[in-house]
Amino acid sequence: MPSRIIGVISSGRGENLRHILEAVRSGYLPVEVRLVLADQREAGALKIARDYGVECLFIDPAGLTREEYDQKLAQALDKAGVDLVVLTGYMRIFSPGFVRNYKNRILNIHPALLPSFRGVNAFKQALDYGVKWTGTTIHLVDEEVDHGPIVYQVPVPVEEGDTYESLKTRVQMAEFEAYPKAIKVFIEGRPRVEGRRLVLENGSP
Ligand code: GAR
Repeated sequence: MPSRIIGVISSGRGENLRHILEAVRSGYLPVEVRLVLADQREAGALKIARDYGVECLFIDPAGLTREEYDQKLAQALDKAGVDLVVLTGYMRIFSPGFVRNYKNRILNIHPALLPSFRGVNAFKQALDYGVKWTGTTIHLVDEEVDHGPIVYQVPVPVEEGDTYESLKTRVQMAEFEAYPKAIKVFIEGRPRVEGRRLVLENGSP
């Protein structure tokens, strides 16, 4: 199911991308990040890709329907020979056709322990709810938002006096370690999807 040529899609800062690229550089993660795409011209992820010598492209969503936009993404990914799509802070929802096309080949990271706090503002949702633990989830993308089978989760405590920023920092520190690990396990674990469960034949994170 998964392979080793990765395309990353981002809407923002790109710190998860940086940690993935560092994990590749150190030899921990046996993949090639071949392409980085962004829907924001100023996305930090594009600059990080350039710094690491990875081909990158801003694809402008202006005036395009969701289907048209996703077709452009797919053309770029296919042209580059990408077989695993990794989302790092990509804030658009895919069209059903895109998800079908890359079935079980799109990973996303969400800054909460799914199924809690889906959608935007996961840190605020966690603080408002008063949970004692939140965390991060790496999961396969399906047709529903923040919903597909879970690859890996890391719990993170919410501490007394936490603000949005302090909680975000703690969760994102966990993410930077978790995403390379999850990608490695997904690639090496000979995974298969059984209903909502991702079954790994080869070890667990
Ligand atoms: C990460 O915290 C990720 O979990 C979140 O965006 C941030 C991206 O940071 N993703 C989502 O909210 C997706 N719904 P980065 O651009 O520095 O990697």
